Amino acid sequence: MKIIGTGVGLPRLRVTNDMIAKYVDTSDEWVSSRTGIRERRIISDETLIDLGTQAAKEALAKASVDIADIDLLICSNVANSYVTPSLGCIIQGKLGASCPCFDINNACAGFLTAMDIADGYISSGKYKNILIVCAEEPSRIVDWTSREACILFGDAASAAVVTVGEGLQKMRISTKSMPDVLYYKRKLEYNPFVTKNEEGFKPLQMNGREVFKMAVSASVADIKKVVEDTGWKMEDVDMFVLHQANLRIIESIRQHLDLPEEKVPHNVERSGNTSSACIPILLNELLEEGKIKKGDKIVFSAFGAGFSTAAGTYIWE
Ligand code: COA
Repeated sequence: MKIIGTGVGLPRLRVTNDMIAKYVDTSDEWVSSRTGIRERRIISDETLIDLGTQAAKEALAKASVDIADIDLLICSNVANSYVTPSLGCIIQGKLGASCPCFDINNACAGFLTAMDIADGYISSGKYKNILIVCAEEPSRIVDWTSREACILFGDAASAAVVTVGEGLQKMRISTKSMPDVLYYKRKLEYNPFVTKNEEGFKPLQMNGREVFKMAVSASVADIKKVVEDTGWKMEDVDMFVLHQANLRIIESIRQHLDLPEEKVPHNVERSGNTSSACIPILLNELLEEGKIKKGDKIVFSAFGAGFSTAAGTYIWE
């Protein structure tokens, strides 16, 4: 399986730390020094459907693949206003596609999880061309009256077209059930027969310190394992494309693995954490800047709510 086109759909509105400081007790100094984040895009008058459609169209154009030749659409999403049908199903209609489609939710590890699913279908010969769309709107699940989490996230969509090829080497997905460290529990509709106590519906809840520690240790372990399983040495790898949650997390992973700065690119400063959309956005930027070339060995690593992690090795074709 190989990636043949990537695309991005970003909200128009850039929200700086100073803009957030008008709503919660924080400052540009605190946010940029603790997270590296200086601004993020937040949905205002657009819809997540618009952004996902835009990202998909760009990826299809770059891949030179007609929508009619897409065999499957996988959409990665944590939350959007539609519970059903799936977001992928709605984006399918906007694209004029007729292929099957479904959503997955593996939080920030969603893109790599979708890659793994796509690889299974492509390797089995069932499908040839698969469109992955990651569309995320974390700004609508965080608490904008509290400073803890709203500063971390940005909204975005990104997409990739994947097809038959030898790019993907290994992919590893892990889950450790720890819902309490990072969760958003939404209220369901009234049901006259429910007798159990149902409370605790709150915006996104996060134990920041715990998530930080787990992110670093899990990503370091995942990266070591996939590099070893691929038969590579750490120094063979040209680029580490990591989930963009926090610059300090990225730096800590880099230092644990003793990697040179130029091999660990980041854009969290401008995008914040866009959940599963992060990795294809960064990949798209690196490709546009000509920083990835044919034959480059790449490691991907992502982590998030679950606690779920994924990491993969890839040779750019
Ligand atoms: N602005 C100003 N002060 C803030 C703040 C904010 N946005 N958020 C927290 N603080 C305060 C706290 O209230 C605390 O104050 P106190 O010392 O008076 O009690 C102080 O800053 C330190 O809080 P702490 O939570 O220990 O800070 P931290 O250094 O761990 O940084 C995070 C907090 C959230 C930035 C950091 O833990 C983190 O990035 N964790 C990972 C989160 C993540 O990436 N989640 C998504 C994963 S996919």
